[in-house]
Amino acid sequence: MSEGWINVADAERLAAEKLDPGPLGYFAGGAGDEVTLRDNLVAWRRWRLRPRVLSTDVSAVTTATELLGAPLSMPILVAPVAYQRLAHPEGEVGMAGAAAAAATAMCLSTLATARPSEVAASAPPGRRWFQLYCFEDEAITTALMDEAVDSGFEAIVVTVDLPRGGNRERDARTGFKLPDGLHIPSVRAAIGDDRELLVEETFTLMNPALGWSDIEALAARSSVPVLVKGLLTAEDAVLAVEHGVAGVIVSNHGGRQLDCVEATADVLVEIVDAVDGRAAVLVDGGIRRGVDVAIALALGADAVLVGRPALWGLAAGGEAGARRVLELLQAELELGLALCGCASPADLSRDHVRRAPATSVYSDQ
Ligand SMILES: Cc1cc2nc3c(=O)[nH]c(=O)nc-3n(C[C@H](O)[C@H](O)[C@H](O)COP(=O)(O)O)c2cc1C
Repeated sequence: MSEGWINVADAERLAAEKLDPGPLGYFAGGAGDEVTLRDNLVAWRRWRLRPRVLSTDVSAVTTATELLGAPLSMPILVAPVAYQRLAHPEGEVGMAGAAAAAATAMCLSTLATARPSEVAASAPPGRRWFQLYCFEDEAITTALMDEAVDSGFEAIVVTVDLPRGGNRERDARTGFKLPDGLHIPSVRAAIGDDRELLVEETFTLMNPALGWSDIEALAARSSVPVLVKGLLTAEDAVLAVEHGVAGVIVSNHGGRQLDCVEATADVLVEIVDAVDGRAAVLVDGGIRRGVDVAIALALGADAVLVGRPALWGLAAGGEAGARRVLELLQAELELGLALCGCASPADLSRDHVRRAPATSVYSDQ
């Protein structure tokens, strides 16, 4: 079935047909008027590629790369997305299987419907990172982090753009809530409470007073690299590096937190320049095509993450569907590299991109 899809948009259409209005609104929606949600997509189209010809032999092109000192089949990772069993019964275990089959890394959300230990036990071996929300009760944060590291997760991604939940109006309209029986087992275990937690209730447990010194302390005591996710300015990127992170993830949470912030494609350059090679720089938001990945890499990102694309694959076809989406993106990137005159992701540079002319008919689509 998934063999019939030829791009991410096809998976999205299928997923939209399959999902009920509540979950669909939760997955697809953004904050407020969804200005940033839409801008994330459009912003990659405000760049143009500058391919080179004949100077590089592109008879053997690879998408393989290295990130935090370990190999990946491609610079495309699966972003942390909450409640994946709401999309498909295979949930996070299916997603982890898809990422493992594609030989890339998956980042498991704190708000996952499977615990890190379950993912480790049930999915084939693969590279996994854990996304951490810092709770007001530090014991919860520590318990979550410890379980992930003990389960073989190789990095901790601290999401820092959610001191409070964003204004998700689609959820208010549909009255979205988690169905009975679906919960966040690792948070429940860490809290030691077997009540079902509402989505907003979980957000109220996060620590709104989190600061850079907390990040520094966490990075210092972690046995695995710590990245921060949710930066949009050079100023914060410099602070992140100064406080000891191994990487920063340029992200506006897929347009779900503060509406009317800049698109990630528009702030990537200032952050890459501010970090200046002192930490890894990843970016997510609106990546839907291999050429979007190529543009991000050319602007200086080490890798990208995809949230909704992998989720649409999962919703439409379970693990096989998510795997198909990852394969499609990899194939598009591989072709894009060849046509740019690049034999590998590392060959892409700023010389391969330029701002689209303001007069381009596509620059705002
Ligand atoms: C339904 C949904 C749930 C998400 N849940 C989380 C989460 O639990 N933790 C987190 O750090 N980011 C979360 N994100 C943000 C993603 O990690 C990522 O930043 C975003 O999806 C990237 O944009 P894209 O969907 O356009 O690829 C979520 C995104 C979506 C769409």
